[in-house]
Amino acid sequence: MNPHPNVFVFDTPEQVVRAAAERFVDYSIASIRDHGSFAVALAGGSTPRRAYELLATDEFRNRVDWSLVFLFFGDERMVPPDSPESNYRMVNDALISPGAIPAANVRRIMGETAPAESAASYATELKSFFGTVEWPHFDLVWLGIGEDGHTASLFPGSDALKEETRWAVDTRNPQTGQTRITLTLPVLNHAARVTFMVTGRAKAATLARVLNDDAEEEALPAQKVRPVNGVLEWLVDRAAASGV
Ligand code: 6PG
Repeated sequence: MNPHPNVFVFDTPEQVVRAAAERFVDYSIASIRDHGSFAVALAGGSTPRRAYELLATDEFRNRVDWSLVFLFFGDERMVPPDSPESNYRMVNDALISPGAIPAANVRRIMGETAPAESAASYATELKSFFGTVEWPHFDLVWLGIGEDGHTASLFPGSDALKEETRWAVDTRNPQTGQTRITLTLPVLNHAARVTFMVTGRAKAATLARVLNDDAEEEALPAQKVRPVNGVLEWLVDRAAASGV
């Protein structure tokens, strides 16, 4: 019996991101058919970049009705939008500029303003899209994991992990001290679908712990992502899965 039925192992990182892009297309069609739009929270970091690039290619872009796709961000570094460290910049270079999505459908986190102000304005942006609900209902959330088990910008031991009312908060990367804005756990856990993309041997020990350990109290942030009424899946390469 496969202990991890929602974990899909591919030979290469390219196959991981291609599978993610294929699923993006399929989920966009299903969501638009079901309720007329597709709201996605994008992952930052380096792993998903190639998936964004693929979505901008003819092979993928013509299969998505971008006029009904709304792009949000799972987290952001508190840097200007043209900074090489900006998640928005990465997605803009890989997908938004070369792609077909209307600029008005891209709702970025302001990395250039004061952190608390940025978190508050992002929450306002989310509420203007999702309405007066307790938690937003993303159709898809893309996530990665760090070697310390963080996801989005929810770092081990951070107060942001305990947030029970706010949709977005400012926080800090304990290793670099860099200020970040992140969606909170309840937001991630109220999504219809959460897809993790994890590649490379450097993540193997962390992925094994995240998937195998169910020790609640010292659970890693990535382990706390459990959609309450949604689908969780892991797209990983063989190197990352080598410890599972
Ligand atoms: C970020 C991300 C973060 C990322 C992991 C993995 O802004 O950095 O949202 O959670 O997914 O750090 O990063 P890599 O894909 O670069 O390994």
